[in-house]
Amino acid sequence: MKTLKLVSRHKDKNISLLDLQGLTAQNREEYLEAIAAVIDSAGFIGGNAVEKFERSFAEWVGSEFHAVGCGNGTDAITLAVKALDLPAGAEAIIPAMTFFGTSEGLLNAGLTIKLVDVEAGTWLMDPASVENAITKNTKVLVPVHLYGQMAQMDRLREIADRFECRILEDAAQAHGSRWKNRPVGSWGDLASFSFYPGKNLGAFGDAGAVLSRDEALIKRCSAFGKHGGLEKYQHDAIGGNSRLDGIQAAVLNIKLKYVDRWNEIRRSLANIYFEKLANIDGLELPVESPSAHHTYHLFVVLVEEREKFCQYLKEKGVGTGIHYPQAIHQIPAFRGSSICKGHFPNAERVARSAVSLPICPTMSNDDAAYVASVVASYFNSKPDRRT
Ligand SMILES: Cc1ncc(COP(=O)(O)O)c(C=O)c1O
Repeated sequence: MKTLKLVSRHKDKNISLLDLQGLTAQNREEYLEAIAAVIDSAGFIGGNAVEKFERSFAEWVGSEFHAVGCGNGTDAITLAVKALDLPAGAEAIIPAMTFFGTSEGLLNAGLTIKLVDVEAGTWLMDPASVENAITKNTKVLVPVHLYGQMAQMDRLREIADRFECRILEDAAQAHGSRWKNRPVGSWGDLASFSFYPGKNLGAFGDAGAVLSRDEALIKRCSAFGKHGGLEKYQHDAIGGNSRLDGIQAAVLNIKLKYVDRWNEIRRSLANIYFEKLANIDGLELPVESPSAHHTYHLFVVLVEEREKFCQYLKEKGVGTGIHYPQAIHQIPAFRGSSICKGHFPNAERVARSAVSLPICPTMSNDDAAYVASVVASYFNSKPDRRT
């Protein structure tokens, strides 16, 4: 009875934040065939599918790049930093608004973390704050291309060069994004990617990769992920085990063919949101920089009293998410550490007010228009509905 009521209230609309089942169903047979080929060849670790993916993923970014697969995006950060062989006491600067994994990946590699605030509007690492925060211990800048938009990489590159720092791009949310027409991964010394299933390019489980122009750096990442050596029973360093497995690579090889098209759909859905949600009092839309090719991994808006807003959307059949409910310095795991010190008002505001609206390549323009109409109706409704 309850279910029936819910359905009739939604009419026929039920738009989730991300329709992973629908997206997977689009190419189901192709995935099954590719997975069967891995099973038949027993290419579970290493093998053709992994080699093919590493080659084609690098090629997709540009012919001068090299890539190595690994277990997940957090490990990709750790492997990238280990490959840089930074001195003891080295410090990384990261934005205060990112997924926790950015900080874990760096801490797991033995770095110290310093936070800077994000810009208002784009909610990305603020180059001016980076410049103020750099010390002689700063050895790496880690811009995070949050929600699919790249940080101001030309400015960050100039700062890094001036202060002799390296750049590791955390590109977990930015497959296919560009800054000033240059692809993600091309501004940094290294870039880390996550292929967590919900990412724009997502596997059927955990997976990640590191990308660089510098083949020697990629070989070092590879060795650290394969017990410290490139050959079996070669252990030149204490590494660990973080490999891309054959089944995940087989899935990624298929998805790589579609990701550009999926990104274009995401961009057109975002345009519908921009058109239909402009100038609504109480709703802050994301700012897309004219220099960015944004791939809208997430479409995040800021709303005060977001619980009421999310509840209203839920009642109308619209799913939402929160990315992320805490800024890095507010995360309980850091309580008592120096990471907790400081005040980052823009990051704190995002943590307090961010709501992710549905965006997924399975959505139609009508779906996006429906979501936008529900959002608009929340703000147009009588004030008492909002209080
Ligand atoms: C910005 C960012 N960095 C790092 C990660 C970590 O990736 P993974 O979950 O694959 O370890 C994620 C994943 O959500 C992320 O969004």
